[in-house]
Amino acid sequence: MATVSFLSLLRLYLFFFPTLTTPAVLFQGFNWASSSKEGGWYNWLITKVPDLASAGITHVWLPPPSHSLAQHPQGYIPGRLYDLDASRYGNKEQLKTLIKALNDKGIKCIADIVINHRGPVENGRSCNFEGGTADGRLDWGPSFICKGDANCSDATGNPDTGVDFPLAPDVDHLNPTVQKDLSEWMNWLKTEIGFDGWRFDMATGYSPSITKIYMANTSPGFAVGEYWRDFTYSPDGKTPNTDEHRNQLVQWVQGAGGVVTAFDITTKGVLHAVFQAGLWSKLKDSNGNPSGMIGVLPQNAVTFIDNHDTESQKIWPFPSGKVMRGYVYILTHPGNPSIFYDHFFDWGLKDELIYFSTLRRNKGISATSKVKIMAADSGLYVAMIDEKIIVKIGPNGGLGNLIPADYKLAHSGEDYAFYDHLFSWGLKEELIYFSTLRRNKGISATSKVKILAADSGRYVAMIDEKIIVKIGPSGGGVENLIPPNFQLAHDGLDYAVWEKNGNGYLLVCDL
Ligand SMILES: *[C@@H]1O[C@H](CO)[C@@H](O)[C@H](O)[C@H]1NC(C)=O
Repeated sequence: MATVSFLSLLRLYLFFFPTLTTPAVLFQGFNWASSSKEGGWYNWLITKVPDLASAGITHVWLPPPSHSLAQHPQGYIPGRLYDLDASRYGNKEQLKTLIKALNDKGIKCIADIVINHRGPVENGRSCNFEGGTADGRLDWGPSFICKGDANCSDATGNPDTGVDFPLAPDVDHLNPTVQKDLSEWMNWLKTEIGFDGWRFDMATGYSPSITKIYMANTSPGFAVGEYWRDFTYSPDGKTPNTDEHRNQLVQWVQGAGGVVTAFDITTKGVLHAVFQAGLWSKLKDSNGNPSGMIGVLPQNAVTFIDNHDTESQKIWPFPSGKVMRGYVYILTHPGNPSIFYDHFFDWGLKDELIYFSTLRRNKGISATSKVKIMAADSGLYVAMIDEKIIVKIGPNGGLGNLIPADYKLAHSGEDYAFYDHLFSWGLKEELIYFSTLRRNKGISATSKVKILAADSGRYVAMIDEKIIVKIGPSGGGVENLIPPNFQLAHDGLDYAVWEKNGNGYLLVCDL
């Protein structure tokens, strides 16, 4: 009886727990060339959905969905906001199909909201706009544009509350009709198209109090702002002023209501300083915490390595050859990490990225995990996260006695390593789980093994046609090997078990 009740609890735990604790791992699902992909980007990305699911991605940031000026096919000067059929990424139906395929795997979609400025009617007056519907929604004229904007000489709106965008008219967000029209459009993107949240493009272009209004009017499940400020540097021009930089991000988040997150550009700057200029001590601030935004307001920070601007257009690419080291840092540290399409699919880093995102999930590393920095100088960074793992980054192998005796090396790559806490594995419960599974399924000394895969980082086998077990760091394509009458019953670091007709509720009843 004791075993039965223990198992019942364990099954219920497995059934309910995963959805409650999954920390966010974001994915930027495009690059600067995506709008010219033959056959359409939405049609391409939908073929990658299984890979994204196996990597534990929770949110995919998709490109701006609307019609955009002809010379700006990437979508960043949108005109007819409601017209999703004229997008160079694909049409509205293809977008909805993609979003549904992602949602079916439990992945939410983030729309790129470009509202600082707007593309006027082409070959028409530079201050007239069309919404893209028959009923005149978002059909605007010069009174909706900030007075003094160089792109619209007869603009009569309020002065701009932020940075001017020089390539198109800047929208007057103090106009209540603008706020109403854009909020309606964003809510339409949620209800009609299936988006769950926002990435606010050029959030420096208007006051944070405006972002706060759109947040309140649209209640996104998740939102992140591109609040891009340049760094100032020490007098010798070498050391970025990270305190000043991250304070601007924090102030923006607070001004925008405190719920929205911001891209942690400070952390990217810190990692550039380390890998480009060798400033290893920059990894620790004067309080002993990480010196990026994750050191002060981690729950509102979205960490990233590169994006469609910084890498695709070589505006500020991550130091060459150091990208994976950067990911080891952001995927083991607090904040909400994000992965860039190119790095995952084109750079040969997929297996390592899956390894670290799985580690993050399995160890429960979250946006607010605790970092204890044990070394940050001369080519060596060592940090303990949540007293569960230790991560080491850097070419300097002189660890001395830094790694406590109860931690053991679990995984390593070029200039990085991860040490696991021996007593945080929960081995006893896992051993009981597997020995109980063996007994309940009648796996015996002569059970039949059918090997489904044994290659490149994965082993998958069916035992007695009752369970399937997977071992190995690679998630690549495993889903295609699992017959539909098998369901995921249990997983751990680099292993998983599927049971025939298994789901939590039925198993509890079986017992
Ligand atoms: C805005 O003005 C700039 C500078 O004159 C020009 O290059 C750009 O084409 C204009 N854009 C629009 C949409 O009128």
